[in-house]
Amino acid sequence: MEMDKGKKKLTIYLAPMQGLTDAFFRSVIHSCSFANGFDIAVSPFISITHGDLSAAHKKIKDVSDNNNSLPVIPQIMGNEPKEFIDLANLLFDHGYTHVNWNLGCPIPKVAKKHHGSGLLHYPNEVNNILSKVIPNIKPCLSIKMRTGYSQTEYQPLIEIFNKYPLESITIHPRLGIQMYKGKIDYDAPRIIAQTSVHKIIYNGDIYSLDDYLFVQNLYPNINNFMLGRGAIANPLVATEIKSSSKLPYNTAKAWYYEYVDKLLSKIESLNKPEQSKINKSKEYFRYIAQQLKLKPENMQPLLQCNNLHSVQCLIKKLVLNHF
Ligand SMILES: Cc1cc2nc3c(=O)[nH]c(=O)nc-3n(C[C@H](O)[C@H](O)[C@H](O)COP(=O)(O)O)c2cc1C
Repeated sequence: MEMDKGKKKLTIYLAPMQGLTDAFFRSVIHSCSFANGFDIAVSPFISITHGDLSAAHKKIKDVSDNNNSLPVIPQIMGNEPKEFIDLANLLFDHGYTHVNWNLGCPIPKVAKKHHGSGLLHYPNEVNNILSKVIPNIKPCLSIKMRTGYSQTEYQPLIEIFNKYPLESITIHPRLGIQMYKGKIDYDAPRIIAQTSVHKIIYNGDIYSLDDYLFVQNLYPNINNFMLGRGAIANPLVATEIKSSSKLPYNTAKAWYYEYVDKLLSKIESLNKPEQSKINKSKEYFRYIAQQLKLKPENMQPLLQCNNLHSVQCLIKKLVLNHF
């Protein structure tokens, strides 16, 4: 069992975000000239539908289509041991020696079916799945979870996890009903780090070097941090965390522009209908707008625009004017 409680090298994970931090995004940040601060990525989840692995194959292709940009840990969503074992071993055959289990997805439709965070209510079911899966999968397993649906729901789970040789536990300290908003339970990661025998990865609301320094100060024994929305809003944050210093304004602006420019060019080059490229540009823009602290009136022309070239020009102009 892994014991990883001492001071170790800082590792920064790119969080899984379905449709956002996939191979497409990983290759964008890899192509930028600034030093990529991310060490490893967890892929958006791959699920198995009724034992049929064919849909999973397409997703595995996306996980693999990585241009060696970052090592990737594929994530599995599921609660049926046989299907889980088959998918984990298929991923192993594709070269993945580590898979991650999604115990965090809060979408009610998903959770109701005892998938993602929906399983956190049922520690016996989690134990049963782990007892069947762990002896039969070839890759090692890590878990990504949130705190549950009531404040201490995670505690019996940590005791169960202690019985198994897990690679790590990533904790996003929010309840399922909070989705991705509202107060973070900053006590939970500390309690988990004290009671778990596993490596702990903290995940939640790191958008800046200051946000990172705040959580690092709260958890001096945690050396692993995962960034999701903050990574899309500004991947340079990982670079700043790694050097423990803020980039000079002009450098940060030039590199941020490069990031947005490469992201938009890559969207433009996709072999997809114009409308889907517009939607994708606007989807990433939601995070960029947050970084730039744009007001609704700054965004209005862009939100009303439905021409790819104009949408992308407006986004770049907003970056130049508001960074
Ligand atoms: C649009 C979106 C898609 C997500 N997809 C996944 C997913 O596939 N697997 C997963 O474990 N978490 C997923 N998450 C959760 C993130 O990995 C992360 O835990 C969450 O955003 C909190 O971290 P952050 O504050 O750094 O963004 C998703 C979150 C969002 C907003």
